[in-house]
Amino acid sequence: MEFMVNGALREADVEPEMPLLWVLRDELGLSGTKFGCGIAQCGACTVHVDGLAVRACQMTAGEAEGAEITTIEGLGTPEAPHPVQQAWIEAQVAQCGYCQSGQIMQAAWLLEQNPAPSDEEIDATMSGNLCRCGTYPRIRQAVHAAASKMKEA
Ligand code: FES
Repeated sequence: MEFMVNGALREADVEPEMPLLWVLRDELGLSGTKFGCGIAQCGACTVHVDGLAVRACQMTAGEAEGAEITTIEGLGTPEAPHPVQQAWIEAQVAQCGYCQSGQIMQAAWLLEQNPAPSDEEIDATMSGNLCRCGTYPRIRQAVHAAASKMKEA
């Protein structure tokens, strides 16, 4: 099967029922997307598919074929990080870090929908991405900072 991932066409010899998460991690080597719960309850596996934030554990390879997929590896680069990634670094959001690629992908999607979210809107969108380290206050701070950066750009 063929997948458009981070702007490049990638091939993987997989069954259409395989979860997209395994395609990304095990077949394409994109291990920045994490396996958390496997039942779409934690958000650690959040990626963008055709502009939507989706849980890669619940989408099949067959459903993802032909779509534009973006993972944390494709959001920005170390030289040119996405404003959300830059804000995350500046606010030192991560603790253990396990949930953070999913948090960043969810936050980037939020800012595409709503360039100036309120605290309540941030909490409502980000509450589906669990963080056992409790980084929510800094997530909120970093989303506001990223929103400002994107407004200035
Ligand atoms: Fe540890 Fe979120 S930073 S789970």
